[in-house]
Amino acid sequence: MKWTEEYSTGDDEIDRQHRSLFEYTADFQEVLTAGHGEGAYDGFLEFLSAYVKIHFGYEEQCMQAARCSAACRNKKEHGHFLTLLEEETARYQAEGYSHEAATALLDMIDDWLASHILRVDTRLRDSLADRG
Ligand SMILES: [Fe+2]
Ligand SMILES: [Fe+2]
Repeated sequence: MKWTEEYSTGDDEIDRQHRSLFEYTADFQEVLTAGHGEGAYDGFLEFLSAYVKIHFGYEEQCMQAARCSAACRNKKEHGHFLTLLEEETARYQAEGYSHEAATALLDMIDDWLASHILRVDTRLRDSLADRG
């Protein structure tokens, strides 16, 4: 996935974090396609979980400070994403690496990021503009 202007939230730090998320998942997609997913999956899950928690926390603070009307929905969807990620992490720890599960997780992440950023995160743009 590539970051484009349509994903702009009006906050440079949030945009930078979204770009990093896009790049990080695209990099892992290449690793997966090359057939090296098994050795990298553990680190991928660990880093992704840590990074999204930092990102979600920062973004939720920004939305609250800007009194953005999407703040509540944003938190709720972040919680849902973390649940999906934790479920796959638990499955991986119990059953081991699965190329199908890793592929499904990456597809979910791509779809979720695009949809969530466009519908929810970008609503910060108007809130920031309204407040000057
Ligand atoms: Fe968000
Ligand atoms: Fe976000």
